[in-house]
Amino acid sequence: MNKEGSEQTLVLIKPDALKNSLTGYVISQLSEFHTGLHFSGAKIVQVNKMLATEHYAEHKDKIFFPSLLDYIMGFDHYRDEPWKRRVIALVYQGPDAIAKIRNIVGPTDPHIARENKPGSIRALGTKVPLKDSAGKMVGERMDNLIHASAMASDAEREIKLWFKPSDIPPLMQVYPIKVSDEHYYFKNGILFLTYEPGSVCLIAPGDCVWESDLEALRLLHKGLASKCSVESVAAKYLINENR
Ligand code: RTP
Ligand code: MG
Repeated sequence: MNKEGSEQTLVLIKPDALKNSLTGYVISQLSEFHTGLHFSGAKIVQVNKMLATEHYAEHKDKIFFPSLLDYIMGFDHYRDEPWKRRVIALVYQGPDAIAKIRNIVGPTDPHIARENKPGSIRALGTKVPLKDSAGKMVGERMDNLIHASAMASDAEREIKLWFKPSDIPPLMQVYPIKVSDEHYYFKNGILFLTYEPGSVCLIAPGDCVWESDLEALRLLHKGLASKCSVESVAAKYLINENR
């Protein structure tokens, strides 16, 4: 596929889908046969707190936010089996990818999905009561099996959060990339241009990176305001890093 008329969207197959062996079903529902879309990225990710927090940043003030982080990090479904805590992150690509996938995914609330959109993926989900320390019900967790980007701006932010340009085949990349001429190291939320003991090298000179990430790092390193946080750039470079 060339870039003409193509749109990308991020899908996450969440830990409850893995636990219930629904991975194959979900991928089948989203297949080229059903959607006319194509994969352009795929990875298996043990979600850490930084990535979870950035992914669901829009919900940070909601009562269900802490339980949402636990859910996407796999704590709820693999409490005693940490090595099984994974999500499958996928990029799908093609005309109207965002709307097509949201339609097959169905409403956020699995009970509403069962009522209004039987046959949608989330109609197979469930809801779990959230209780405070006194046992009083304070909300609900929606175990809805799958995430899908809701609109174009979300898709761009989310794909850049989970994937590096080199995770996507060159002819399928739709967002501008740039070659870095700087080193960027990261430690405890701080950026460095030279190696600092204990830091992680995010980017080296010659690396192809999202142009918007490079612009954000340039501003953030100077202490200036940027459209995104340093964590939103760093998170994808720390995916599956054991440190
Ligand atoms: P997603 O981001 O996961 O694709 O879901 P969505 O767009 O359909 O819904 P969104 O409002 O973005 O919510 C993100 C996730 O938070 C959980 N949620 N719980 N208890 C509640 O009222 C509530 N509302 C949302 C769900 O797991 C939802 O997928
Ligand atoms: Mg959402």
